Amino acid sequence: MKPRDRLRIAMQKSGRLTEPALDLLTRCGLTFRQSRDKLFCFGEGEPVDLLLVRDDDIPGLIAQGVCDLGIVGRNVLGEFQLTAGRDGEPLDELRPLGFGRCRLSIAVPQDMAYEAPKDLAGTRIATSYPGLLGEWLRSRGIDAGVVTLAGSVEIAPKLGTADAICDLVQSGGTLVANQLRETDVLLESEAVLAGPLTLPVDERGDMLELLLKRLDGVIQVRE
Ligand code: PRP
Ligand code: ZN
Ligand code: MG
Repeated sequence: MKPRDRLRIAMQKSGRLTEPALDLLTRCGLTFRQSRDKLFCFGEGEPVDLLLVRDDDIPGLIAQGVCDLGIVGRNVLGEFQLTAGRDGEPLDELRPLGFGRCRLSIAVPQDMAYEAPKDLAGTRIATSYPGLLGEWLRSRGIDAGVVTLAGSVEIAPKLGTADAICDLVQSGGTLVANQLRETDVLLESEAVLAGPLTLPVDERGDMLELLLKRLDGVIQVRE
C-alpha cells in the first residue's frame, strides 16, 4: 500500500446513511468536491477525502488499508468481524454517530406459534447476517438452519425457502407488509465511525485526532 498523507473515509454511496453522514462531516467543517463518476469526494479545506462505496464493502476496505476510516452500520461492522474479517486484526468502533438507528431482529410469520428462541430449533432462518445470527443461535444452544440471502429476506417465508427471518428493522413497515412479527432483538444498531485498532502515526493520525474532537463537539451539541 502506497503511503498516504490524506485521511480517507469510506461511506455509503447511496442509501439511508449517505445524507446524514455527509451532513455530519459538513458540520465538522469539512467541504468536498465530488468527482464526475461520483465515487470520490476530494476534501477542499482539510486533507480528508471520501470514497463512496457499497456499505458492505466498507469494513474490508479499512482492513486492507485502502481507507483509514469508515462510516458504517454497527451491524455491517459486526458481521465482517465474525466472517470475512475473522482472521485479521479486529476493527474498532471509534464513535457511535447517533443516526441510522435500527435493530437486527428475528421475525416469524404472524401465524407461527412462537414463545421463545428455543422454538427456532429445527427451523430454517433466512438472513443477510449469517455471522451475527450464527453466533446468537450458538450462544443459546439452538440448532437451526441458516439460509443466507443478499436481500429481500422478508419474502423468504412466503416463498417457502425459510420458516423465519433475521433482518434489520427500522420502522417495522417491511415486516408488517410481509405479515411477519418481530420476536427477538439480536443487536441494536446505528451508524458508527469505524477504524483500525492502531491508528497511523503520521499526518493522518493528527487529522484523525482533530476530526474526532470536532465530531465529539457536533454530536454533543445535537444530543
Ligand atoms: C432494510 C432492511 C429491511 C428494511 C427495514 O432494507 O433490510 O428490509 O430496510 O426497514 P423498515 O423496518 O423501516 O421497513 P433496505 O430497504 O435498506 O434495502 P436492502 O435490504 O436491500 O439493504
Ligand atoms: Zn447493504
Ligand atoms: Mg431489506
